[in-house]
Amino acid sequence: MKNILITGGAGFIGCHVVKLFVKKYPNYNIINLDSLTYAGNLENLTEIENAPNYTFMKADICDRERVKEVFEKYDIDGVIHLAAESHVDRSITNPFEFAQTNIMGTLTLLNQAKISWKDNYTDKLFYHISTDEVYGSLGAEGFFLEDTPYDPKSPYSAAKASSDHFVRAYKNTFGLPIVITNCSNNYGPNQFPEKLIPLFINNIRNNKPLPVYGEGLNIRDWLYVEDHARAIDVVFHNGKLGDTYNIGGFNEWTNIDLIKVICKVMDKKLGRTKGTSEQLITYVTDRAGHDMRYAIDSTKLKEELGWEPSLQFEEGIEKTIDWYMDNQEWMDRIVSGDYQEYYKKQYNQ
Ligand code: NAD
Ligand code: DAU
Repeated sequence: MKNILITGGAGFIGCHVVKLFVKKYPNYNIINLDSLTYAGNLENLTEIENAPNYTFMKADICDRERVKEVFEKYDIDGVIHLAAESHVDRSITNPFEFAQTNIMGTLTLLNQAKISWKDNYTDKLFYHISTDEVYGSLGAEGFFLEDTPYDPKSPYSAAKASSDHFVRAYKNTFGLPIVITNCSNNYGPNQFPEKLIPLFINNIRNNKPLPVYGEGLNIRDWLYVEDHARAIDVVFHNGKLGDTYNIGGFNEWTNIDLIKVICKVMDKKLGRTKGTSEQLITYVTDRAGHDMRYAIDSTKLKEELGWEPSLQFEEGIEKTIDWYMDNQEWMDRIVSGDYQEYYKKQYNQ
């Protein structure tokens, strides 16, 4: 029996990782530690909440006593660390919160792992989930590789970069067994509707303006969230200790082209005349310091561990839109309350 601590398991990517591990590995105890910020939602986990190998603990990763408690109570031998503040726009308005959670929270977990595992690092692993944004922004050519120098440009990516550095520092200084992955933009079910794809699906459904930052020409590399969860499974079990792996979809889109695809699919699903949803596109003030292009080269992960994306984007986006249309109550519950305040401030509406 392995006791695996997954942090941030009530969030978008975390819930897919938790579901995959709970179902695929009945001999593992999965402990999901999440403080349930606005982005955490236990509804994402109803299908496994009663599984005998699953435990939820509501706690903050910055709370040293609670982190110590979880390591001691469950005799943790593996950590998959996803908990973070994850939205770039929020990091621009509230950078301190990002430094606290993403840096201090990661440090708190690392230090407890070091203390709890001090006598024996055998069969232990601290797996840190990071982002391609730590590498900064690309021009028209090239890809992020594992040895691309760090050049974070937003408070979010600066905090994530700092957490990556702490993880490597704990490897170099204390010998902690670690692995890091840096992934590109995820999309799929259960994503909080502050992020581009679920936000735009919801706005189209409600005939609200689609706020495109700048000229809509920024480029992102999109990966279906379940493919990311599969990659995490592969790296957790077979990744080389101390290494970094990039994860991406080889699937680049300018925002505006991606938005037009969503509009087209939504017109069809909603029985609207072709072109109706595109009329909602509204160009708004650009994000401050907006990174131009991200593109991941995930060749290392493919060649060393045999992982590659399974879904073509056309199939993935169709599945994603279907999920949001079939789960409108999930969305409606989220976009009430605090979300309204956030939306007013972010989009001056
Ligand atoms: P998310 O915002 O949807 O979920 C984050 C989760 O962490 C939530 O459940 C939240 O309640 C929890 N959390 C936040 N602060 C916490 C704290 N102090 N203590 C305990 N729990 C806390 O994020 P996501 O999109 O699922 O991202 C998960 C991880 O993957 C993050 O580390 C992010 O940097 C990384 N990542 C995300 C993407 C992406 O496209 N979404 C891509 C690459 C990497
Ligand atoms: O690359 C990985 C990163 O992808 C993750 O580390 C982050 O946690 C995740 O949030 C995501 O960051 P982005 O900033 O790329 O994602 P977001 O969905 O916020 O924006 C995608 C693109 O769409 C970006 O170029 C900004 C643009 N955008 C976004 C919003 C919310 C708009 O044009 N309008 C919007 O309203």
